Formats: sequence, structure tokens, C-alpha cells
Amino acid sequence: MLAGKCVVLGVTGGIAAYKAVEVASRLRKLGATVFVVMTRAAANFVTPLTFREISGNPVVTSMWDEPKLWNVEHIALATRADLFLIAPATANVIGKLAAGIADDMLTTTVLATKAPVVLAPAMNCNMYLNPVVQANIAKLAGLGYHFLPPDEGPLACGAEGPGRLPDPAVIVDEVAALLGAGGELAGKKVLVTAGPTREAIDPVRYIGNRSSGKMGYAVARAAAARGADVVLVTGPTALTPPPGVRVVAVETAAEMLAAVLAEYDDCAVVVKAAAVADYRPLAPAEHKIKKHGDELTLTLTKTEDILAELGRRKQGQVLVGFAAETRDLAANAGDKLTRKNLDMVVANDVTLPGAGFSGDTNIARLLYRDGRAEELGLMSKEELAGIILQRIYGLLTR
Ligand code: CTP
Repeated sequence: MLAGKCVVLGVTGGIAAYKAVEVASRLRKLGATVFVVMTRAAANFVTPLTFREISGNPVVTSMWDEPKLWNVEHIALATRADLFLIAPATANVIGKLAAGIADDMLTTTVLATKAPVVLAPAMNCNMYLNPVVQANIAKLAGLGYHFLPPDEGPLACGAEGPGRLPDPAVIVDEVAALLGAGGELAGKKVLVTAGPTREAIDPVRYIGNRSSGKMGYAVARAAAARGADVVLVTGPTALTPPPGVRVVAVETAAEMLAAVLAEYDDCAVVVKAAAVADYRPLAPAEHKIKKHGDELTLTLTKTEDILAELGRRKQGQVLVGFAAETRDLAANAGDKLTRKNLDMVVANDVTLPGAGFSGDTNIARLLYRDGRAEELGLMSKEELAGIILQRIYGLLTR
């Protein structure tokens, strides 16, 4: 996928430097030429030797060493890069780049490059949320630097919050998406829906659901990484859309239907990961409903089944639906496949630990039109997205 592309990987001094080894390895497996530039601090966490073995190229750590590659090494690497990735990016390197400081090999090379620069910050959450760091990020983002926001969770320092380096698979997918064309889905339009819908009860309340949007966003990211022209129609989520993806934000099932139909005709693939409301309040109140009696009855009316409508209008598109079930998984999901005229259903039993709505993992069973079924074990939503895209590619090239 990345054959002929050169990625320069900058590694700075944070504990997540060890994950950069896997990033380098995955980039190389996809065919990219990888050169690693390390700061002195990074070399305290992981040795240059490790990166040299994984990348298959000499590793640069200092301005003053005997050049291993070319005469003016930082200029040569800066020119050679098709993309410059800094992972992990510490607060220090972000601050230096924002201030235009070039006092080591990494910052010097970044200042000299015209390639897209992608930073994956990883640090203690208080450092990350510090207004100075956020201002530096905003300044660099305004100048066209790309940022991959850190994951939230327990950090190596014991704190909990945003600051974890994203999964290496996610980082590499984003790099591949930015490097664009040449993937197996190049030239194909892929429409993905994600997240919940919200149906108004009155101006301040709505009926929603627990969908986080993570699965759909992972599918959009994986499709973009394979070179597809991706449109993400998304209900309200707390997620940052993947780079290189066109986003259409919607709120209600009716808005999602309109957005999806407007994009449908020239699509090669549609993946409907959104959790669409099946019913909405029949007559949303014009003003906030006041508290009166002990009970309140809302009359709901059915929303349109978007996927079923796509199934009716299908003209060669590969149509993939999701089925979140709490019982009779195979029967219910199989029924959706035929009823909605789908090519594949990603079914999961949401009662299983590790397969819920808001978690980072999923346990899925893939059902196909010809009756085949494929059982997949517990895996990250990113990994599952990769497999879904692989199977879709198979369906497209049947
Ligand atoms: N879906 C849709 N429009 C709706 C409801 C669901 O497009 N109004 C899509 C979802 O995006 C998902 C698939 O249909 O890809 C299955 O959704 P699910 O809620 O599991 O199925 P339903 O058909 O609503 O069946 P039920 O709620 O009875 O299980």
C-alpha cells in the first residue's frame, strides 16, 4: 500500500517511544521506506539499534555525528520525506516547533521539510491540557500541521485522562490516508454512517442511545487508509473525524436519511454503523415541557429505515449493515440481511463483555448473502474495521 513512499519517523523522549517501534514496523510492512530520527531523550527509552533493525535504515540522533546517509543529512531527509510523522510528540518538541526552534536533528529536519507533518502527542494529561501546550498545538494546526489526538485512559505516570499514544495501527492508517492514492479502494466512494441519532422531545430534551461512534469512525479511517473517497455521515459524537474524510454532521434519523440519499448513487460501498432511532416523538413540543403529573406519556412514531431504503434502491453498491443484538444473534442478524437486501452484516451480541457500545473492542460475527458466517474473536474496533474493509474488498472484486 505504501510502496514507493518515504516516511521519516521522528521519535521524541516519552515512555510511548516503545510503541513507535511498532509504528515503524507496520509502515515498513506496508512497503514504505522508513527513516527514523530520534532525539537524545528518546534514545534513553529505546535504543537507536532497535529502530535501525526495524526500519532497515541508519538512525539519526545527532547533528554532529559523522553523516551516515548524505552530506547535509537534515536537508536530504527533509526533501526525501513524503510524510513526516512525529510519534510520540512530547510537549517539548511541540513547543519547540511552535516557536520555530531548531536545536537538534529532529526539529531542524522538520523545519526544512515541505512534506505533510503529522504529530501524535503523548504525555501526562495535565501537561497535554495545559493551555500553553494547547496554544502551541492550535498554532501548529493553524499552520497546517496534522495532529492525531491522544487516547484517553490510564497513563504510564499513574494519572488518567487524554495523553496516551493512539494504537500504532490507527497511527499507520492515518499516515496511509494522508499519503492517499494507490490503496486497494482508490477511486471508490465509500459512505459510512456512525454514531447515534437524537430525536427531539422538546427544545431541550431528546431520545438518544449509547452509541459512541467509535466503530463507524474506525471503518471510515480504515477505508481512507485504503485510498477510498470517504464520506462520513455522523450523528453527534465526541470523536475527532479521521483526516482525509469528508464529514456530514446530522442529528436526527430524517437528517441522516436525507444526507445518505444525497450521497448514495455514485457510492461503491455503504457501511451503516450508525445506531439510528427506530422511533421518534410524534409531535415534539415547541416549548420546554413543564413538570406536571406523576407520569408523562410520549407518543412515538416510526422513523424511516434508512438501510432498508438503500437496499430497495441498490444498483450494484456493496451494502453493509450492523446488527447489535441481545439475543438470537444469528437469526436476528440473518433476518436483517435478507429483509434489507444487504451483502454483509456485522453482527454482535452487545451483552458480551468486550462487545458493548462505548468500549474500544468488539466481538463480531460476519454474515454474508450466500449464507456463509465468519466468527471473529475479541479485537479492537480498529482491527475489526480493517477486517471489514478487507472483506468488502473481496466482495467488490468477486
Ligand atoms: N438502520 C437504519 N435505519 C433505521 C434503523 C436501523 O439504517 N431506522 C440500520 C442501522 O444503521 C444498522 C442496521 O439498520 O446498520 C440494523 O439496525 P438495528 O437497529 O439493529 O435493526 P432494526 O432494523 O432497527 O431492527 P430491531 O431494532 O428490530 O432489532
